[in-house]
Formats: sequence, C-alpha cells, structure tokens
Amino acid sequence: MNGAMQQKGMSHEEVMKELMNFAEHDVDWRTGKVMTGLYDPGKDAHNLAVEAYTRFLPQNALYVNMYTSIGKLEKGVVTSVAELLRADDEVVGNMTSGGTESILMAIKTARDWARENRPQVKEPEMVLPVSAHPAFIKAAHYFGLKVVQTELDLYDYRADIQSFKNALNSNTVVAVGSAPNFSHGSIDPIREMSELAAEKDILFHVDGCVGGIYLSIMRRMGEDLMDFDFSLPGVTTISADLHKYGYTPKNASVILYRNRNLRKHAWFICSSTTEYLVINPTAQSTRTGGPFAAAWAMLRFLGEEGFREIVRSSQEATKVMIERIDSIDGLEVLGEPDMCMFTIASDRVNIFEVDDEMGMLGWKMIPQFACGGSPENLHVSLTHANVPYVEKYLDDLKYVVDKLTREGSSVNTEELSTLVDKVAESPIEDILAAVIPHIGLTGIELPERMAPLNTVLNRLPAEKRDQLLTFYLNMT
Ligand SMILES: Cc1ncc(COP(=O)(O)O)c(C=O)c1O
Repeated sequence: MNGAMQQKGMSHEEVMKELMNFAEHDVDWRTGKVMTGLYDPGKDAHNLAVEAYTRFLPQNALYVNMYTSIGKLEKGVVTSVAELLRADDEVVGNMTSGGTESILMAIKTARDWARENRPQVKEPEMVLPVSAHPAFIKAAHYFGLKVVQTELDLYDYRADIQSFKNALNSNTVVAVGSAPNFSHGSIDPIREMSELAAEKDILFHVDGCVGGIYLSIMRRMGEDLMDFDFSLPGVTTISADLHKYGYTPKNASVILYRNRNLRKHAWFICSSTTEYLVINPTAQSTRTGGPFAAAWAMLRFLGEEGFREIVRSSQEATKVMIERIDSIDGLEVLGEPDMCMFTIASDRVNIFEVDDEMGMLGWKMIPQFACGGSPENLHVSLTHANVPYVEKYLDDLKYVVDKLTREGSSVNTEELSTLVDKVAESPIEDILAAVIPHIGLTGIELPERMAPLNTVLNRLPAEKRDQLLTFYLNMT
C-alpha cells in the first residue's frame, strides 16, 4: 500500500504540487462542457462561496451552543427555501449534506411516524415510481421498508397514476413523487398522487432535490407548471438541494417537514452513554460550517434576480437544444422535460458510443440504462455555465452521430447482447469471466471507451448488474 503519511513532513509547495498531480486527469470543470453534476455559478459567485466556505470550515455544526452562527445561517437558508416552496409557518426543516441525506431523513421520519401513528402496520412499505432516485431504495434498505416501484407513462415519463394508485395498500406508510425526476426532467402528477396518499393516511414526500429551487423560480417568473410543493395539503415532506440548481458548493441540501409533529421523529438525541450529549436533527453528527455559510452567501449574493436570470437563460438554451437534437436524424429527446434536464436516446446508433465520442471532444454527459420502458439514453443537466457553449455542443453532437452512422459502430451490440443473454443466469464470477475479454477491462482502471462495458451492463437484469458491480468494485 502506498499511503499518504511519511516519516518527515513536506513543505506546503511540495504537498500542493503532489495534490495537483492527482487532479491532472480529472475533468476540467471550468470548460463549460460538463453537463452533469456540476453547478458553476460564475467566477465572482464562486470566489465568494470559497471564501465563505473556508471562513466557516473550522466551525463544528454539532456544537450549536459554541457556534451560534451555524444555527442562524441554517435558519436563514431553510426559511428561504421554504418560502420558495410555498410553506406556511408550520413548516420546519434542517440543512443536510445533500439530497441523499435529506431523503434518508424523510424516510426515517416516515417510518417512525408510522410506528407511532399506525402501529397496526408491521411491515411498512414505500411506493414510488421507477423514476424516483436510488436514494429512496437506499433509505428503504437502511430503515427496513419494502420498496414497491410503479410504472411510468411512457409518453411523458411521469408517474403512471393508475399504477401508483394500485400499489398503495394498508402497509404503505410513505409514497414519493419527483419534481422533477433526474432521469427525464419531468414532474410527476404530485397533486393527484398526494391526494391519493392522503386519503389513506400515507405520508407523501416530494423529491425536489434537483428541481425544488429552480422550478419555484420558474413558477415565480409566471411559468405554468404543475403544482408540486406545500401548496398541496397532502405533501408532508420536501427535499430541495442547494448544491444543485441552488448553485452553492457541495454538501448543502434542505429537508422540510409539514410541521413539528412530523419532525419530532427526525431527531436523534442521546444522553445514555458516558460521552457528551448528542443532539442530531440529521444523520450526520460532526459537520463543518462551510456549506452553511456558502449556501447562505450564495442566496444573498445571487438574490432572486440572479436566480431569475440563470433560469431565463438556461430555459432559453434548453428549448434550442431540444428542438435541434430532435431534428438530428436518429436522435430523440425523451418525454416532456419541465426544466433544463433531459435525456437523449437513439434508434440508430449505440448511444453509449455517442457518449464516448462526445467525451473525446470534452463533453461530459451521463449514460443511463434502459429501465421501466425507458430506452438507454444520455442525460444532460444544463447549467448556466453551459449556456455559451450550446451551439458548439449541438454541432459536435450532429458531427458525432453523422460519423457513427456513416462509419458504422465499433461495438457489436448484437453480439454482446447474445453473449450477455447466454450467461445472465450464471454466477457473477462466470458472467465477469465471459464478458471481460469484450469490454476492454484490463485491471481496476476503467477503459477509455466505455461503450462496450455500458452495452453489457445495459443488457443485464438490474439485480445482476448491481451484484456484478459490487463484486467488481469490491476487488479494487
Ligand atoms: C432527483 C434527485 N434526488 C436525489 C438526488 C440525490 O442527491 P445527492 O447526490 O445530493 O445525494 C439526486 C441527485 O442527482 C437527484 O437528482
């Protein structure tokens, strides 16, 4: 093993030089070509965020009495997000480290609420469309809930209301809708879903992690959107991330609860050990004050006007992108995206090869496997930083698709699919042995061209895919 600790310490310069060597092959986030997982608010805002973050880096959010600033910053951020989501005075919330933690808190709270309020339920279930984020499956796994996934309407990739309705039963304690789902950028019919849940005394969580802030600004700008927030009485919790379209540095999200009676199930307070009194409203305990200060600073710095400008230019660019992508022979944008996130599928070329080719030109999207009737696709989360580069992206995308159509595929999709179908039922080690020679894996490093590997993974049943990846990654 080659660890970091050495006998003798190194100088600041030497350490930084080595650190920067690690980053040599990282994607450069400044190019404007990264179209997923990166939310760059621009140079001035970024510099302020870094300053705010580092200034509050040493503060420990666990010790609320020592660092009263953290409580004040949290209150300011939570109140701003709650207002955007049309919360009344009863709504309360906390900052967490991200969407996953917010969702974990919502599901843990729902489980514990049900233990008190619906004690007859012995085997609690969670109902959610197949487009809901994997964090819910993780939460169910952690907290012992059964997962019931429901279908999508394949015209617009929103939750199919009949399938959702059929899945609700006397064991359901919580149901979920997204605003929007990450994969296709579409808002579920939250009004109908939350009404159905409320009729059966089921809590209803809205996953606004990616869209809560952005869609609320769109609504304030007069856009005619489906309702998805606390204006709907059946909505009991909402997660909304600041570190996505709130354009704040990572590790900042908000979880909101309809009232204190619900949030009381979120707390973990413990004084029954020889240790200090632990008081946690969230899953984490010790936390840096950095994300609190940076999120607060970004909301102040950008203001509603700043966010409106970001939303205006992003929506304008998204419209152009969708029209132009749909006009490229062999490509299609799936469904009816409600904001600046969408997916591209192809009936002509291997979409994972498009990803590889675009990657070579510097464009970073995210591949998604076929699932629940949605074909395999490439996901784009457009941000403010991408807007000036949209024309170039569209030119490159057309060039890549034309090239692959003209020259043919270097991945034999049919042959790989036949191979996968033949071994899919075998033990994981055998599947791995059969596919490895065809996917360019030579060691633990991922291949430069991911299309063969993605084609294989796409063809495997989801459960086998997850097992195979666990087995493989655990070897690294
Ligand atoms: C809709 C949605 N929910 C939840 C999450 C999880 O958020 P995080 O990665 O911050 O944990 C994401 C992340 O992309 C998301 O898009």
